[in-house]
Amino acid sequence: MEEIKKSGRYQRIFKQLEALLMKTEDPVARMATACAVLHHKMTYYFWTGFYLLKDDKLIVGPYQGPVACLELEKNKGVCWATIRSEMPLIVKNVHDFPGHIACDSRSKSEITVPLFNQIGKIEGVFDVDSDQLNSFSNADRDELQRIMELIYR
Ligand code: SME
Repeated sequence: MEEIKKSGRYQRIFKQLEALLMKTEDPVARMATACAVLHHKMTYYFWTGFYLLKDDKLIVGPYQGPVACLELEKNKGVCWATIRSEMPLIVKNVHDFPGHIACDSRSKSEITVPLFNQIGKIEGVFDVDSDQLNSFSNADRDELQRIMELIYR
């Protein structure tokens, strides 16, 4: 998707989610709603969801798309890398990422964004896979970080 089109779409989604998510304070309901909106509006999203830290494990949370891994092997792959660095990651080609965990062989590129609570503690990651190479840019990273701030607002 063209960068300009992408940015416009994210702006509209942000406004929609800002209003929708305020209907509850429950973070899981907010995560589920963010996944549903993003997954259906961003045409290049193939799998869209959360992995949440629980007792030092990374367990799947709300998501949209094909069935995914329920738990991610500790300190392996893209999601764990984001947990450790607390920074977003853009992977242009998942086959070039050492230790990448393939929950679905159709995934070709990926982005992960850390999810923080109100006191700045990391709760998990938001993860999007695309079935095309090189789908994610800095526009996705910046806009998804803004959207993630809505979950624990
Ligand atoms: N690829 C991720 C695993 C989650 S799936 O993409 C849904 C990783 O390497 O952590």
